[in-house]
This record gives sequence, C-alpha cells and structure tokens, in this order.
Amino acid sequence: MAIEPAALHEALLETSAATSGERVETLFQALPDRAERYRCNAAGLTLDFSKHLLDDDGWQLLLELAGSRDLPEAFRDLIHGAMVNTSERRPALHTLLRGTAGSHHGDKTAAVTDTLSRMAALVTAIHDGVIKGANGSPLTDVVNLGIGGSDLGPRLIYDALSAHDAPLRAHFVANIDPEDLDRTLEALNPHSTLFVICSKSFTTEETLTNAARARAWLGRAGIIGDALGQHMIAVTTQVQRAGEWNIPPERCFPTWDWVGGRYSLWSALGISIALALGWPVFESLLAGARQMDTHTEHSAPGENLPMVMALLELWQTQYLGTDTHVVLPYAQKLRHLPDFLQQLTMESNGKRVSPEGEPLSHHSAPVLWGSAGTIGQHSYYQLLHQGTRAFTADIVLPLKAGDGDMSARRALAAHALAQSRALLVGRSAENARQLGAACGFDDATSRQLELLGNHSHSLILMDNVSPQTLGALIAAYEHKTYFLAVLLDLNPFDQWGVELGKEIATHMQQLLKGEEAEANVDNATMAAAKAWRAANPD
Ligand code: F6P
Repeated sequence: MAIEPAALHEALLETSAATSGERVETLFQALPDRAERYRCNAAGLTLDFSKHLLDDDGWQLLLELAGSRDLPEAFRDLIHGAMVNTSERRPALHTLLRGTAGSHHGDKTAAVTDTLSRMAALVTAIHDGVIKGANGSPLTDVVNLGIGGSDLGPRLIYDALSAHDAPLRAHFVANIDPEDLDRTLEALNPHSTLFVICSKSFTTEETLTNAARARAWLGRAGIIGDALGQHMIAVTTQVQRAGEWNIPPERCFPTWDWVGGRYSLWSALGISIALALGWPVFESLLAGARQMDTHTEHSAPGENLPMVMALLELWQTQYLGTDTHVVLPYAQKLRHLPDFLQQLTMESNGKRVSPEGEPLSHHSAPVLWGSAGTIGQHSYYQLLHQGTRAFTADIVLPLKAGDGDMSARRALAAHALAQSRALLVGRSAENARQLGAACGFDDATSRQLELLGNHSHSLILMDNVSPQTLGALIAAYEHKTYFLAVLLDLNPFDQWGVELGKEIATHMQQLLKGEEAEANVDNATMAAAKAWRAANPD
C-alpha cells in the first residue's frame, strides 16, 4: 500500500526533493509573515510550525491531501462510532467519554453518564470521610495498579497537576518486578490505603500479580474477607471477574471494549486522577479534551491543530526521511508526557500492513522519545545538534508553568527558546572557523564546532499546565495519531504485535522452573535461563 492518491504522492515527492536542499531561515526571509501564517490555535494551545522545512507549495499539497483523503469525514466517522477498529470489529469512542457527539450513541451515552455519576459519588464520599478504611481510618493514599494504558495517562496527569493540598496522595505501580510495589508500600499504612486495580481485560499478568501481592499486604495487616473490599476498587470490562476478588459491585466500575487502553484515561480507568486530585479536576480534564474534539470537528484543515500535526509528521517521515520524533516538554510537570506519547503513537501506528493485510510500502510511526527540558540538554542534545540522524521535535512550553521562582522559570523558558533557535540556525562553517581560531584551533579542529541547524520542529505553547490545557493537549495528540493512521492506511486501535511476547513468557516461566523441554528454545536463550536458575536455586 502506498500513500494515496498516487498523483498527490508523486507531487509531494517532487516538492520534497526540491525543498530538502533549502534552509528554513531562507523560507522565513522569503515570507515575512511566516511565523503568523504557519501557526494555529485551539483550546489554550498554540502550534507554531513555522520552523519546519516546508514551503507554501508543500503545504498546499498537504492540505490537498487532507481534503482528498477526507480527514474531516474520517473524524466524523470516529466520533460517530464507525467501526474504525476493523480487526477487532469495534468503534473507538474515547471521544464519547468526554461527551463529544453524545446524542449519537444512546445506550453508550447512558452507560458513560451513569459511570461518571457513580465515580463522582464514590470519590466525593471518600473525600468527605463518609467512606473510610475498614478500621475507620481516613483513606489518605491511592495506589493505581495497572500498566500501559491503565497507567501512563493517569500517571502523567497526577504528576502534572498534583499539589500539596490534593485530597489524596497517588502512587502508580506498573512493573511486575516486586521492587515497584514493595518500594511504594514501604511508606504506606495499609489501613489508610486504597488500591485501584485498573485492567481493561483483567487478564494482564503484571497487574493481577501486583493486585494479589497488594491483597496479601492488606491481609498481613488483618484486612481480610469483606474488609478487603473497603480497600479496593476495580475498573475493567470484566466486572464479574473483579467480583471474584471480593470487591463489592459498587466499587467495580466498567470500561468498554469500544475504548482502547491507550485512549482510556477519560474513563473510570482514570479514577485515580479523580481520587487524588478531586472530581472538579477530572471534569475539567474532560472539558479540555472536549474543547479539542469540537475544534477538530469544526476547523478547516489548515487551522485544525491535530490535523496540522499529522500532516507535518507525514511530510517529515514520508518525504523528508526523518524516522525519530523527540518530545521535549519544558516543564517538570510534563516530564511523563513522552512516556505517555510513546504508547499512544507507537502502539497505535507501529504497524506493517493495512487493514486489508496489504504490506505498507511506506514507513509507519517514527520512534518517539524525549524527556523534560532542560535535563536532555545535558545528555542527548549533542546528537540532536551534531549527530547524523534526521529527527523532528516538539518543544512544549507552558507560558505560565506555576508560581515558582520567577528567575528560574525565565531561565527555563530561555532554554526552550534557545534550543529552538539553535535547532533552526545552527552555527555556520565560517562562524565555527572564527570561533575555533579564537580558541587557537586549526581549521580541522574548528570543524567540530559547526552545527548544521535546519532541524524541523514545532513549538507547542500552552497558556499553563491546567486540567483543561492538559486534556486538550492529550486529545490533540490522540487525534493527530488517528489522522496519521488514516493517511498511512493502518488500524491505530489494535496491538497484535504485543501478544507474541506474552505467549512466549508463559513458556519461559516453565523453562525457568525447569518444566519446559530444553529442546524448544535456542541455545542462547537456554544459556540465559540456566544462568537465571543458577542464580535463583529453589
Ligand atoms: O499489552 C499491551 C496492552 O494490551 C495495552 O494495549 C494496554 O494498555 C495494556 O496492555 C494493559 O491492558 P489491560 O488494561 O487490559 O490490563
């Protein structure tokens, strides 16, 4: 499968061949209002894409492509419940969780509304002290047990928005490595701790192992039988299975097969957010995402922030040869954003075939990585400025990131803008030679001071890090991911690639117990298994 229509694809190939020799600085000189024209705004976010190696010809072709692939109609399909997850034969209605296009969905809307009001009631009763731990202690800590989509979103949002006066402290345990849970529990009192078992499938080994270990920890404090239910909540599509854990029905919340795990923080799988930060915060998060949904539904392609993000990524990865995308939030509050986006974009769009099983003849998702600025500057930015790999970047800069020390916050923003400028202009060979000469370097050594610059990147400015802007930001990336999937002709809502490893892990457990025939594995795996067994005798 190639990018279609073929004529536009050919035109984009030709234009990109011409553009690739250009410099973005020249594009700025040629178009004095470039910074204003290559920018769009939505729901408290500004996307400045003027520093991409993209001229008006390329941009017009991309907009034509958006029209010819009818991205606006594709978005309506998504929010109206078309069967966009073709391999699992389901819609993907995460937008409904925040009330978007609710009138189209009858029973589903009623189920969402009912679940939200049950969540609000439980959260409020806990905060008001009406619901306590089994021995009457107030609940002070919530531990979210989940992995992937049942962890990364709530973890990001809690970390971004938590404040000293938040109603509860939240902790997130995902790894099956017992260190993760054990270290978390060290500081907690079982009588005032509430666990949320978050698993859409309720079969995920990591989560069920941690839940069983958490239950044993409560048991050691004498919290057993019905009392256990006062310290546990479950969120899953399999509510009967959760009931088998002695969790009373009023503490079992549904999610639905039409909500993908990595799109699910808006559902009851995000209840840890509401428990830790308060119900109004959760509602504002949904409202911010809904605002982005509305913008995406009603804006023309050139002003449609998520659509523009998708077109830029298509341009960069399919026509200018970049294969990695780095996300650089200049806000400590957003340090988990790259982790969340890794699952969202790579589990969604890391595919090799079309929904019809045709091999793709183009690349799918780029590798996404990143970390909070300025930390990365002292680590991998060297490669960004002087390495040989082509990449794109999103520099995310909240304009008012908090009330902390003004001079430190100004320094942080200065670094964000400085990096953006350095990525754009670099340091020319002549400047490098002069600088080197001043240091007493010969010409060969001075060449090491040259930075090519011309690295395409976006600046994403946010008013602040609030529940609304964060909801809008995450929804923008969700829709960007979907639009790209449409353009690349793949299903972003399944994840068959992760199943093989889970299956083999079952055999490996037997091998590590000495119960699997050695002949079934390669020698290298066998040697590693023997080394593990030797280090862990029965
Ligand atoms: O293994 C991948 C995955 O299925 C993700 O898609 C999902 O977010 C995660 O595991 C957790 O799944 P569950 O919520 O069913 O435990």
